[in-house]
Amino acid sequence: MADQTASEEDILLAKRIISAAERHDLSALKILLKEGSANVQDPSATTATSPLHAAIAACGKAEDGKEAGEDAVKTVELLLENGAIWNDLNKEDETPGCIALRLAQKKIYDMMVEAGVRAELLFSKMEELGLGQDDEELEVEDESRDDAPAVKKQKVSEEAAQAIQGAVEEKVLDDVSLDNRAYLKSQLRYKPGILLDESDNAVMMDWETTIMKRHAETLIPRPGLRAMNVGHGMGIVDTAIQTYDPAEHHIVEAHPQVLERLKEQGWYEKKNVVIHEGRWQDVLPKLVEKGVVLDAIYYDTFAEDYKTLKEFFSEYVIQLLDQNGLFGWYNGLGADRQICYDIYTKVAEMDLYEAGFDTQWEDIAVPSDLHGSDQWKGTRRPYWTIDVYRLPVNTFIK
Ligand SMILES: C[S@@+](CC[C@H](N)C(=O)[O-])C[C@H]1O[C@@H](n2cnc3c(N)ncnc32)[C@H](O)[C@@H]1O
Repeated sequence: MADQTASEEDILLAKRIISAAERHDLSALKILLKEGSANVQDPSATTATSPLHAAIAACGKAEDGKEAGEDAVKTVELLLENGAIWNDLNKEDETPGCIALRLAQKKIYDMMVEAGVRAELLFSKMEELGLGQDDEELEVEDESRDDAPAVKKQKVSEEAAQAIQGAVEEKVLDDVSLDNRAYLKSQLRYKPGILLDESDNAVMMDWETTIMKRHAETLIPRPGLRAMNVGHGMGIVDTAIQTYDPAEHHIVEAHPQVLERLKEQGWYEKKNVVIHEGRWQDVLPKLVEKGVVLDAIYYDTFAEDYKTLKEFFSEYVIQLLDQNGLFGWYNGLGADRQICYDIYTKVAEMDLYEAGFDTQWEDIAVPSDLHGSDQWKGTRRPYWTIDVYRLPVNTFIK
């Protein structure tokens, strides 16, 4: 990595590595990577280009007849084999995969998605094994995750949250969405078409109504079923669930203001509706103990990361769902960057399979006027910048 203390030799080596990557000069690159890292960045510091960025940018636009050739593919392969980080950002805020997508280099883009999936699975395995925190080598790799974009409901990583763990206790968080408990203690604001948290994050917005309705429709094919929704928010999905006349409609909700609203709107009195007050982490073990069985389960919470979603399905859905039941979840992982969305869609599918579920995906186009629209006014940042929502429906593998 080029920094102020880097020697002239280091700077020269970094320049040569980036240049060899850009020329797709495999033989030079192989020699140079024996001396230097595949993660050097442009020493001029104006572009923060890494060898992967350079190799991919040099492919040009596929539409101009410049489909990446074998040399380009092999260069990317070689860099990845040598530990090049899939989600390093350049000064244009692009990962190497973002460049591949912009240039319509499908083959290279798919390689970057695969690299991201491998990296994320590895990190999650290491975390499971309690590795990673003290290991110096792993710490270096961990840096690559600092730039992983945050998303609305299921954050991609918990790192940021861990970094501010101490602060959370004192509730001096600048962004409550980084910690579920801090979010649950924070003040919410219901405004027309939007629910905001204390840090101006949009918790829920009404442009998602089509998506919510479709989730309810895919999960509850006929009246008289036993359904559960985790996370009430603006009540859009629960309202949709009601239209399918469920025999049981469980709602799990933990935020006091949302619970207050449920009361005001008469949800506690609705036929067959049972409100479970508290975090699902506390409520669900009790339902399991009672032997509750459900035909449909939907999960859409806030300020929880992917690891938490994984815990939800691999610990609880498998116990609460009927053998022929259906499970759905809000797929908002990495929705502010296409490559992150594609990676997390795959990671989730693989983890769901390991937990015993098949996944069917349905693509839903988000409203064409969403990006850059006034709807985001007053929000901290748009949590959704991509064009297609991939709606999952899970069944047990038969
Ligand atoms: C994005 S909103 C759900 C939106 C909902 N699908 C709708 O159609 O309006 C997330 C909801 O999950 C709730 N929540 C967050 N963490 C929770 C947890 N651990 N247990 C239960 N509810 C939680 C939030 O208070 C919020 O009401």
